Amino acid sequence: MDFGIKNRLSRIFSPKTGKTVMLAVDHGYFQGPTTGLRDMKNITPLVPQADCLFVTRGILRTSIDPATKTSVCLRVSGGPSILGELSNEDIIISMEEALRLNASGVGMSIFVGAKNEERTISNLGRLVNEAQRYGMPVLAITAVGKEMARDARYLGLACRMAAEIGANFVKTYYCEDFHKVVEGCPVPIVIAGGKKLPEMEALRMTEDAIRAGARGVDMGRNIFQSDSPAGMMKAVRAIVHKGATASEALELYQASKKSAAAESVDESLEKV
Ligand code: 5RP
Repeated sequence: MDFGIKNRLSRIFSPKTGKTVMLAVDHGYFQGPTTGLRDMKNITPLVPQADCLFVTRGILRTSIDPATKTSVCLRVSGGPSILGELSNEDIIISMEEALRLNASGVGMSIFVGAKNEERTISNLGRLVNEAQRYGMPVLAITAVGKEMARDARYLGLACRMAAEIGANFVKTYYCEDFHKVVEGCPVPIVIAGGKKLPEMEALRMTEDAIRAGARGVDMGRNIFQSDSPAGMMKAVRAIVHKGATASEALELYQASKKSAAAESVDESLEKV
């Protein structure tokens, strides 16, 4: 791996811990104004707490402070909406644009075992070829078709394929026997959070994934749809970077939620 790719990866994965807490806020590229992302101002206080923001160019241009110290991994695939065939994606952002936006990585979905499997895989190959030329790391996202089981056999296949095609890191879902997915994949794996879960379940999933060898998270809904997104960021960071247990992390989440509630009571009293 050359200097450029390693240097950019060091803005995504903390050189101190080798791990990352990426905040995924790209959902609107096919879901529209998702709950929690309707007003992107909700995300502003969370950005400094993330190691990297996984985001589309539209949100980056309109809603993210250009002075941010948080690195950016740019979603470069898209096309279909939730109303269409999700696997029918192509690469829609040029490498030049990713460089202009000062991205530290580019990410696209692959749809193994779904319609358009071959096209999304060959698109990944083309993206890697181009990214390689500019020292840009590529994140492959193993999206799951509606009928696909989220098990270690399937996710192991999809992650290994992504690595073989040349992705520098892979995002996938957590599953039982996750260590098997990690063992079969020669590049770092980060987990997506998936649908909103009760906070303790999301934190337990994070702890289990890290213990099984995940190198971090690229988490969205379980953070920005929480009743305390800042608390969840703190909690997830403690697990990923400090090896906290889910129970210890839950305490951080609860303390943060409580102090935010106390601050808002203070503010309302000041107005009386
Ligand atoms: C959508 C994505 C999301 O970034 C990914 O699913 C992470 O978000 P969440 O934790 O909400 O699942 O890649 O295709």
